[in-house]
Amino acid sequence: MQMTAPRWKLALDKALAASPKATGTAGKEREDSCLNLLTVIQLASIDVNTPVPHVRSLVFRSFVSPTNDESHPLLLATTGGIDLLTAKETNWNVIDVRSPKTAQLISNPHVQVVWYIEGTQEQYRIAGTARVIPAPGEGLYKHFVHTLVELQNTAKPSSFDWEAKRLAVFRSMSPFMKASWCRPVPGSRLEGGQEEARKWPTEIHEPAADDAEAKKLWDMSLGNFALVVIEPSEVDHIELAPVPNLRTRYWRSNNGVWKDEELVP
Ligand SMILES: Cc1cc2nc3c(=O)[nH]c(=O)nc-3n(C[C@H](O)[C@H](O)[C@H](O)COP(=O)(O)O)c2cc1C
Repeated sequence: MQMTAPRWKLALDKALAASPKATGTAGKEREDSCLNLLTVIQLASIDVNTPVPHVRSLVFRSFVSPTNDESHPLLLATTGGIDLLTAKETNWNVIDVRSPKTAQLISNPHVQVVWYIEGTQEQYRIAGTARVIPAPGEGLYKHFVHTLVELQNTAKPSSFDWEAKRLAVFRSMSPFMKASWCRPVPGSRLEGGQEEARKWPTEIHEPAADDAEAKKLWDMSLGNFALVVIEPSEVDHIELAPVPNLRTRYWRSNNGVWKDEELVP
């Protein structure tokens, strides 16, 4: 069984490393500010309700390999679209309060990511499946645990701790981003207009042990925070810098081995 990273992943690592925005001091303070455009991917999905594709920008966080198998790299992004706490508090049907992308990815996990690396003039179009990993709890979580078992469908199953990963990524987010997960459900009607919006918390920090109000906000933010894990199965890589341009198709075969062929760009 191939255990080395696929060639497209090595090329992507190299392209990211070569980009000035991905290195040096840019990282820390811009970690989740959405300003480091290098790390923004576009994720497209379709669902059963409409023939119109849905596409949105997401910040790419990192690669993750739950099975420690370099040949099986997963892309990690985040979303605040799951609103289990609000659902519980208001007695709404959980299905109705999820963000559009969450419901769409549940109904059809097949996605395409397009990622343009400006510095090296490369485009990666990555097809695969996406899974959402919410807070552990009732109801929906069972669904996600089920899909995670599928994700580990390799010769070497692992006991990767996804909740520990979710917590670690959450802690790394800025207080501003943490506050964004305490807003009402994303995409829902803005009841009360901007006046109401000005009352939303703007920063959330780890609460002191005796600060019940801060703990409530922290728990709400963490409860609404979810990871998005994208498992690539095919990659269309275009390199515009060389002349003539290069185009390579990579695909993961049934036994997990990545194959590739050159295409006309
Ligand atoms: C530069 C940029 C980065 C973004 N990053 C994220 C992200 O990491 N996670 C996220 O859920 N939404 C992110 N968004 C917002 C999404 O593109 C989208 O508008 C939102 O998540 C609602 O998507 P949905 O209606 O498909 O659920 C980002 C938007 C921009 C412009």
